[in-house]
Amino acid sequence: MSKKASIGVTGLAVMGRNLARNLARHGHTVALHNRSEERTRSLVEQFGDEGDFIPAYSAQEFVDALERPRQIVIMVKAGGPTDAVIEEFAPLLEPGDVIVDAGNAHFADTRRREQALRERGLHFVGTGVSGGEEGALHGPSIMPGGSKESYESLGPLFEDISAKVDGEPCCTHVGADGAGHFVKMVHNGIEYADMQLIAESFDLLRGAAGYSPAEIADVFGTWNTGRLDSYLIEITAQVLKHVDGGSGKPFVDVVEDAAEQKGTGRWTVQIGLDLGVPISGIAEAVFARSLSGSTELRSAARGLGGPTRTPLTGSALETFADDVEQALYASKVVAYAQGFNQIQAGAAEYGWDIDLGRVASIWRGGCIIRAKFLNDITSAYAAEPGLPTLLTSGGFRKAVEDAQDSWRSVISTAVRLGIPTPGFSTALAYYDGLRADRLPAALVQGQRDFFGAHTYRRVDRPGSFHTLWAGDLSEVEA
Ligand code: 6PG
Repeated sequence: MSKKASIGVTGLAVMGRNLARNLARHGHTVALHNRSEERTRSLVEQFGDEGDFIPAYSAQEFVDALERPRQIVIMVKAGGPTDAVIEEFAPLLEPGDVIVDAGNAHFADTRRREQALRERGLHFVGTGVSGGEEGALHGPSIMPGGSKESYESLGPLFEDISAKVDGEPCCTHVGADGAGHFVKMVHNGIEYADMQLIAESFDLLRGAAGYSPAEIADVFGTWNTGRLDSYLIEITAQVLKHVDGGSGKPFVDVVEDAAEQKGTGRWTVQIGLDLGVPISGIAEAVFARSLSGSTELRSAARGLGGPTRTPLTGSALETFADDVEQALYASKVVAYAQGFNQIQAGAAEYGWDIDLGRVASIWRGGCIIRAKFLNDITSAYAAEPGLPTLLTSGGFRKAVEDAQDSWRSVISTAVRLGIPTPGFSTALAYYDGLRADRLPAALVQGQRDFFGAHTYRRVDRPGSFHTLWAGDLSEVEA
């Protein structure tokens, strides 16, 4: 009997191709399928020596090439294309078979698909895969959701091909139904926040300290040897060091300053608003991308009056880079704390049993936000699984408290020089909001009760109350 494949990949664009190659390189027999046959042929022609591939040129041939339980990984565009591929294969499968969606699907779509396919006896596993094309080939961070039963056959394969840190696979069963895609969405939201904070650090070092991109690259290179050691800091140093061949100018100066976004960061903010989680760091990162892309509005506003960026001098200049490192680290702790709180809120809302320490652990390698920092988060949740926020966890608490002067000084400098730092500023505002004894929300409650009789609670006794603002100002129990 001809050899069967333990897993199949349909959708052989770069991500799908690299995932298939990674599986084959690890000794797994991989069935291949693609809408256009050419991609299937060219993969086998170019990489057939990397392992066992079984090319298939129809849906039925692809399904027939798979051992039971059949495991099909879909790597096509999110939305309609994914639904179309599911409908192409589901009728050909049998109860107990598994369909994996490894694209950046919206977790609500994944929950819908998982339920619909469960009713047909099939497992549907929405899986976050982070690390881009290189990660897919050399070891991504993999975040599968879906049933525990599907992970029994799927998990060992994914753990085998995932990145490894201290010998540990960067893959775990995140939680039921859409939990995997939810956590991947939050990963991307944190990624946006991290990238925005790095971009603001660059802007500050350039605008307030007068450093060149090459000099700032060196600063990031130094930071990458310390507590900010991370993939994003590492690649930032490389991007800033790069000189554009055509113009001879720093690459960063020839790139249009309008950031784009495929949408996962936006989804994170939309869901954060629905869940009532103040993920201000992620939101400001999304807004900053939108502002940068508002080219007509920016052109109209360019002449607006305000301070100019006169570089610092003297001792302020000497300590500025270190101050920015402190501010960046503190703001990063806030952004990650917010992201993990969103995962906690999502788990509570959707009934997922998500282990935050395990999520941090599988983000230590393979993914875009991979960083030494995630070791500390893993340890924080291991020490205190019910941690309300990373900000109150020992090591992070001390680091952020120690960063206070630098953090506030950097933001003051930015404000004085007119350098926009929405990420740094919102992180500090969130920190001060959390630690405040009283917030002006009391006044907001009073205003709401005045114009809308929306009632308020008191600090000195239980219940809801309303004041007769249009009458004798007496208070009635609502
Ligand atoms: C990853 C990345 C990836 C992301 C792209 C584009 O984890 O590998 O986060 O999933 O979609 O990098 O993201 P944006 O276009 O939203 O910046």
